[in-house]
Amino acid sequence: PIEERISFLIKEMTLEEKVGQMNQYNGSWDVTGPKPESGSNEEKYNNIKKGWVGSMLTVRGVKEVRAVQKIAVEETRLGIPLLFGFDVIHGYKTLSPIPLAEAASWDLEAIKNSARVAALEASASGLNWTFAPNVDITNDARWGRVMEGAGEDPYLGSKIATARVKGFQGEHFDNTSIIACAKHFAAYGFVEAGREYNSVDMSNSKLYNTVLPPFKATVDAGIRTFMNSFNTLNGIPATGNVFLQRDILKGAWGFKGFVVSDWASIAEMITHGYAANGADAARKAVVAGSDMDMESNVYVTELVKLAKKGTVKESLIDDAVRRILRVKFELGLFDDPYKYCDEAREKSNIGNKANNEDVLDMAKKSIVLLKNDKNLLPLKKSGAKIALIGALANDKNSPLGSWRIAADDNTAVSVLEGMQQYKNNVLVYEQGTDVALNKQSFLDEVKINSTDFSGFEAAKKIAKEADVVVMVLGEIGFQSGEGRSRTELDLPGNQQQLLEEVYKVNPNIVLVLNNGRPLALPWAAEHIPAIVEAWQLGTQSGNAIAQVLYGDYNPSGKLPMSFPRNVGQCPIYYNLYNTGRPTDKDNNVFWSHYSDVEKTPLYPFGYGLSYTSFAYKNLKIAKPSFQKGEKIEVSVDVTNTGNFDGKEIVQLYINDPVASLVRPIKELKAFELIELKKGETKTIHFVLSDEALGFYDNDGKFLVESGLFNIMVGWNSNEGLSSKFELK
Ligand code: IFM
Repeated sequence: PIEERISFLIKEMTLEEKVGQMNQYNGSWDVTGPKPESGSNEEKYNNIKKGWVGSMLTVRGVKEVRAVQKIAVEETRLGIPLLFGFDVIHGYKTLSPIPLAEAASWDLEAIKNSARVAALEASASGLNWTFAPNVDITNDARWGRVMEGAGEDPYLGSKIATARVKGFQGEHFDNTSIIACAKHFAAYGFVEAGREYNSVDMSNSKLYNTVLPPFKATVDAGIRTFMNSFNTLNGIPATGNVFLQRDILKGAWGFKGFVVSDWASIAEMITHGYAANGADAARKAVVAGSDMDMESNVYVTELVKLAKKGTVKESLIDDAVRRILRVKFELGLFDDPYKYCDEAREKSNIGNKANNEDVLDMAKKSIVLLKNDKNLLPLKKSGAKIALIGALANDKNSPLGSWRIAADDNTAVSVLEGMQQYKNNVLVYEQGTDVALNKQSFLDEVKINSTDFSGFEAAKKIAKEADVVVMVLGEIGFQSGEGRSRTELDLPGNQQQLLEEVYKVNPNIVLVLNNGRPLALPWAAEHIPAIVEAWQLGTQSGNAIAQVLYGDYNPSGKLPMSFPRNVGQCPIYYNLYNTGRPTDKDNNVFWSHYSDVEKTPLYPFGYGLSYTSFAYKNLKIAKPSFQKGEKIEVSVDVTNTGNFDGKEIVQLYINDPVASLVRPIKELKAFELIELKKGETKTIHFVLSDEALGFYDNDGKFLVESGLFNIMVGWNSNEGLSSKFELK
């Protein structure tokens, strides 16, 4: 009878109280200290007391949450509890790898568990709502927020989105569940030129086939909230977009939860040039289905007046309030508003051993081996002299990545610390370069123009005397994330020069990359014998990297985003259209290419090596042709042909060569993560429904068209065994 309880409550509420539920404030004062006496904090405080606030963000900690909840529950007329939201993006205090890194694991159970660990810690801190997962598909590494998503592919992105929602929300809404929030609705990942907060123009077909599937997957997984986005889509701000929020989300998909705006995105519709003033912005947002106003302060100041004038129908407000109250009832906050306020759990759970073990496991699974010539890796465990070089090698902050508001600075295990666990080698360390490690705060602009070459000589000296050189280079933690777009995808500062200088004295280099986005490193790909993509792996980063370097863990990650050869190739992605001139048939200039660099990526989507090797054989499709509605069965034999036990991610791609709208040259439609002992063979079975062969047209109609289909099963998006079948 939740709906009845909601109806009863709505009848009791004044218009002001209803609008209050639609208002979310940032807790920008010391909520356990004295009551704020001036400015916007005083106004916020007083509005909570009046029952004009439905949710707070960034208030965290049991004591803090309890203090604010108490005002709402005990001092307002109706005692409606608040929701407490927070950006729990890749862990709370104990950090998992950044989401893009986790996506490289393709390990849905591990990803779900990582979100569960985040939920355990966040809920132990009094929180009941995370602004995650970010399910923005994106293919432009210039955009800083690529670190927050699952990369470029809608199929992989949908699976990961589902896993994350289930991990955050748990099975039942107990006091370890936090409500998830799919963001940013929609198309934020396609901001023009990768520039943050920029505009988006795209066809409906692209929107339906590429952008929307992971959002739809979260609805199917039972997500309770959505966040809209800062960008315009085809000229209309997402926040004021009726088509996205009313027609698709709440209409076609039947979403019963609520939509929160992004930070001040309602008021920003004025700056976009879509609303005349605060009142107009509030009206447009509520009409479009934005249910809660994060920090624009326009709902609480304008909506009551608008409703009284009849400019906004009260039924729209009632609908938004019903959605918000529904989530509060489902969470059980009306039965126990302090459900998440357990000091003992806060003390015992946050940062505990089990959570650290789990994030270590996730970190190892997220590592991608990009190159391993002459089997330079794994490193010998004894008798070797190893030079460790690079400012990121002893950095305890950068591996924490961006979006880690609750974690303490400098709490990651550094690579140096991780490698020091292996005591039977001689390990020497030099920073080499001065990448600006000290400039690491969420609110700082990070610009690295380092020109200090003074450490080069010391680095070269230890490199010269070593058997193997491990260089840890890349981006510092806050060089990606919100507001961190780049126009270069190189190694910032003078790290590239350092790499080349060290290479001259000892080419036996293992390059460990720490970065929050794909980088373009053609020189390294050509010259450096071993390259390990280790992203920003969170609290246990250095331990994970050391265990992989020493072979205690055999890497199995595969790239969730294409790595370009240079920034000019961006956006670059595997599931592109063929064009009319894809190849150089006539040996002339008039075909789709660049004159200065190959058009293929440096490392394609789905790419990643292992210390062992795998052979694929016997790709079989059950029949040469299928009727619509029949299951399409595909199998392949995979053998571990190398010298280590290992894991492989077997990937199935399709291509529809003739359709009523052109289709991508390849689309991932299934994958399986398998484990094979040395010498072992497994037959992998895939079953596709005809839905996997269909697509949305520009009117949003889903079509399954008969005809020939190509299929590829392989080890990355570019290599595998191919066959075909017909759909009748
Ligand atoms: O959740 C975030 C969002 O992703 C970007 N703007 C601010 C929000 C709240 O911190």
